[in-house]
Amino acid sequence: MSSDRSNDLIQTELLDEILTVRINRPEKKNALNIAMYGALADALQRADRDPAIRVTLLSGCDDCFTSGNDITDFVNFPPTGPDSPVLRFMNAITLAAKPIVAAVSGSAIGVGTTLLLHCDLVYAADTAIFQMPFVTLGLCPEAGSTLLLPQLIGHQRASELLLLGESFSAARAEQLGIVTRVVPQADLLQTARAKALQLAAQPAAAVRLTNSLLKRGNSEQLQETTMFEIRCFLERLSSPEAREALQAFMERRKPDFSQFD
Ligand code: COA
Repeated sequence: MSSDRSNDLIQTELLDEILTVRINRPEKKNALNIAMYGALADALQRADRDPAIRVTLLSGCDDCFTSGNDITDFVNFPPTGPDSPVLRFMNAITLAAKPIVAAVSGSAIGVGTTLLLHCDLVYAADTAIFQMPFVTLGLCPEAGSTLLLPQLIGHQRASELLLLGESFSAARAEQLGIVTRVVPQADLLQTARAKALQLAAQPAAAVRLTNSLLKRGNSEQLQETTMFEIRCFLERLSSPEAREALQAFMERRKPDFSQFD
């Protein structure tokens, strides 16, 4: 076993050929700041490079997988170019050559839900809650979700989740196919780890090949969509609607969009 970054907000541990990557910023509901995106990108790239790693297991804390992008970072450190940590993370998860197993407990908001569309096996606690409130924040969806979500669940259901931005249960996520399987909270990590071990025991080259074949049909369009979404997202960040929504979050009040067309 090797453990590093153990005091950091992204903790990694390599055990039995599984790289466990744990989001650990409970006091901010695991909101992802710039440094955390960078560490997540590094961990995923390390998993692809290191022959000792066969599977990545991504998890959060009991009450929060992640509450999405740190809202104060939206304002202070918006992504700039392809080297920005957010984009590095999105590229790394989109292009991951080795399987990613996610264990979702608590809230999975914004990128907390959209990143799951790139994972290969997703286990969720029965208490997990999902939400993609981009439009509610005056923003637009990201991480390729405007391509992947309608492909996965159909246009109308994707529109409902993305346009209304309402939260939905683990049972609904499983029904939609966003989650592979829902398990009791107490069994979550054990189940996800058992599946990761099962994957690690499969012939590695065949797993890598199948993983890349599963993604091949979509890859160019996905890259293009992700970049286009980011450009739209950056424009939205400086829109009056988004400024009002983000300010309202920070001031703990309801946003008022009535003055905008
Ligand atoms: N960015 C920055 N800070 C966040 C955050 C985020 N995405 N999510 C939560 N936090 C912070 C809160 O500001 C609060 O900080 P404080 O204690 O310094 O005031 C702390 O985390 C705890 O959050 P709180 O809202 O008090 O917890 P809760 O249990 O009542 O609600 C959530 C939890 C996750 C449902 C709620 O925090 C939330 O909706 N967060 C925003 C999610 C979001 O819109 N993400 C962006 C998607 S694009």
